[in-house]
Amino acid sequence: MKVKVLFVCYGNICRSPIAEYVFRKLVDEEGLSDRIVTASCATSAEHIGDPIDPRSGRILRMHGIDSSAHRGRRLKTSDYSEYDYIIGMDRMNLDYIQRLNPWVENIVVGRILDYAMGGDVADPWYTGNF
Ligand code: 4NP
Repeated sequence: MKVKVLFVCYGNICRSPIAEYVFRKLVDEEGLSDRIVTASCATSAEHIGDPIDPRSGRILRMHGIDSSAHRGRRLKTSDYSEYDYIIGMDRMNLDYIQRLNPWVENIVVGRILDYAMGGDVADPWYTGNF
């Protein structure tokens, strides 16, 4: 059984694809890619089918990560049975994840900043910096 991790943001073209691709790289580097799989999706329908934002793609390329295969997709109800962790990029994403399926059980639903170690990083939903 693989552990499955889904990152969620508003558009699935900036933050959650970066989280997905960076996390996958870290998982690969730890030799855990046969045990942990990851993906990302949106709360909105704005960018379904779209590639990653060019600025985000460039940042990933600077770190040796090719994200050209990425296409935006929206969170769906079957994700709640498919994934073990569903992680929102900000407070609004987390609220949406919880509202779409408030009865979710046996999976972890969280906000990425709640897992951040150190630093004083503001939630982008409150600052508008996303
Ligand atoms: P993301 O960024 O949620 O990090 O992918 C955004 C992408 C698109 C929009 C907002 C945020 N939008 O309003 O279309």
